[in-house]
Amino acid sequence: MSNNDEDRNKKQKVEDKTLAGRERGALVELQKSNYDIFLTRDCLAYSKIKPSVNQIETHPYFQRDSLVKFCQKHGICVTAHTPLGGAIANTEWFGSVSCLDDPVIKALAKKYNKTVAQIVLRWGIQRDPVVIPKTSKIERLYENYQVFDFTISDQDMDKMKGIDRNYRTNQPAKFWGMDLYA
Ligand SMILES: NC(=O)c1ccc[n+]([C@@H]2O[C@H](COP(=O)([O-])OP(=O)(O)OC[C@H]3O[C@@H](n4cnc5c(N)ncnc54)[C@H](OP(=O)(O)O)[C@@H]3O)[C@@H](O)[C@H]2O)c1
Repeated sequence: MSNNDEDRNKKQKVEDKTLAGRERGALVELQKSNYDIFLTRDCLAYSKIKPSVNQIETHPYFQRDSLVKFCQKHGICVTAHTPLGGAIANTEWFGSVSCLDDPVIKALAKKYNKTVAQIVLRWGIQRDPVVIPKTSKIERLYENYQVFDFTISDQDMDKMKGIDRNYRTNQPAKFWGMDLYA
């Protein structure tokens, strides 16, 4: 049996169990994480249960417009993990460049009288995805909620498009020695 056949058999077994679970009322939704376009297309082709959510890294430096639009077209809700680009945490962990230092976003923050993080989160919400920022600080938790009282203009949304770097800030390969996202 080839590796591909084995993979397919494993997927079939998971699918059978999942379907059985759904029939028993144990499963409500199928959600997936870090699926790129090819994996998502694959999943849509073989899975009898259409995934409802794809949780992916996306932020101003990693916009992934094609993947976001592909998911939206197929009715899959995109959840943006790492929506602040991981901020200082990913800089410390992985040496990543933070979008919170970006001059274009800083200028917009000034213009809208908001913080840089609020601009980044508002931009994320206006693209449609659900955003799930994380903070260990109560004042930032409050700050991160104050994003529903303003709208970024279409012109400024276009400006944000221009700063995409196709740049992943979660880079666990630096510790694990293998690239999960290859
Ligand atoms: N599915 C997956 O593979 C996957 C991968 C990664 C992450 N996630 C999930 O995505 C969520 C967020 O991910 P994340 O923590 O990696 O990224 P993030 O939310 O983009 O960034 C978190 C960092 O931003 C800082 N921060 C939060 N609010 C801020 C603000 N207003 N101004 C400046 N800095 C701010 C936090 O520091 P302080 O704590 O000091 O405020 C922390 O260093 C988590 O629930 C995580 O579990 C999922």
